[in-house]
Amino acid sequence: MRVLVTGGAGYIGSHTIDLLGKQGHEILTYDNLSTGNEWALLYGDLVEGDLKDVDMLRRTLKDFSPEAILHFAASIVVSESVKNPLLYYRNNVVNTINLMKATARQKVPNFIYSSTAAVYGVPDQSPVPETAALSPINPYGWSKMMAERIVFDISAQAGIQHVVLRYFNVAGADPEGRLGQSCRNSTHLIRRALRAAMGELKKLPIYGTDYNTPDGTCVRDYVHVSDLASAHLCALDYLACDSVPGIRHHVMNCGYGHGFSVWDVVAMVKKVTGTDFEIEVKPRRPGDAPNVVSDSSRLQQLTGWKPQYDDLEMLVRTAWEWEKKERPASVPLAVVEARPEIKSQVPEIGKSVALAMGGD
Ligand SMILES: NC(=O)c1ccc[n+]([C@@H]2O[C@H](COP(=O)([O-])OP(=O)(O)OC[C@H]3O[C@@H](n4cnc5c(N)ncnc54)[C@H](O)[C@@H]3O)[C@@H](O)[C@H]2O)c1
Repeated sequence: MRVLVTGGAGYIGSHTIDLLGKQGHEILTYDNLSTGNEWALLYGDLVEGDLKDVDMLRRTLKDFSPEAILHFAASIVVSESVKNPLLYYRNNVVNTINLMKATARQKVPNFIYSSTAAVYGVPDQSPVPETAALSPINPYGWSKMMAERIVFDISAQAGIQHVVLRYFNVAGADPEGRLGQSCRNSTHLIRRALRAAMGELKKLPIYGTDYNTPDGTCVRDYVHVSDLASAHLCALDYLACDSVPGIRHHVMNCGYGHGFSVWDVVAMVKKVTGTDFEIEVKPRRPGDAPNVVSDSSRLQQLTGWKPQYDDLEMLVRTAWEWEKKERPASVPLAVVEARPEIKSQVPEIGKSVALAMGGD
């Protein structure tokens, strides 16, 4: 298939492109590189463009004529969304309208939208099914919920098949060590715990140890980014499959269906990294639900998705390997080895390679 990937240079998009490329799909990434990196694109070409640029978007879709679009591009930091909600409504809602308009105009038949468990807010049941009430508690969650609705309505009107994937807690890195999360301001627990293990954070704050959970800390469903990437390929196959009758419109949760507590994660990070960093227990944060675990049976039943990396140790280990590689060089050597042609395009890469090879 010809697949256009918005936000393909980011964390989840780049892992998905790796799988798409390995399966022989023709890929074009549309990304403004605001948080993504060109070196993370292991397959296909890049159009450096912003979703707000409707002319460029339209031209790109016309020239490439995709058979499917995977829409990852978004602003994703919850605390930033509280400080600057307009940024989130512009980038996640208005820009999704721009993309859907161009998608309908070009009659692209298949669309996959990256959504989030944040649309459920504080769910009153766990495992959480797709039918649970949508009640976001921050502008990020609201913007993703609004964008889901836009995708649904425009797809239904224009005859575009679509899957909305609601990811739970995404973590880990490419098991081959070529890709990982690079965004410095990530607030995710595993990333912060690894930064504490690196000595970049003096103490790891933990919010609330008196929840009604087995050890008193919050429980979350951590899904490995490579399994999440494979869920996109399964969803794409499902949309493209001729044997399923009718036009398909689905929302599907993506997680493992069981969780780990904050203490479980801290213990695993200490074990994997061999360090004993300090913890600071703080009061509960408003809006943190005690237990959020995905009911992903719809994704499994409809698309046949079978996770391969449902293992906390493996998840933490791949993330740790990536963190170690990322510093001090901005680009890991393995990436440059995989794509030597990009070395000349990005000056810092040359520098990183020189450092990694013992140069100045
Ligand atoms: N990371 C998570 O834990 C998580 C959890 C649930 C859902 N999601 C969703 O997954 C998607 C991808 O998240 P990620 O973690 O890979 O984020 P990321 O920041 O690593 O990637 C986002 C990519 O989109 C690009 N981008 C942003 N705005 C753009 C614009 N206006 N025009 C063109 N490109 C633009 C960025 O440059 C970047 O490459 C997002 O839609 C996010 O809401 C992420």
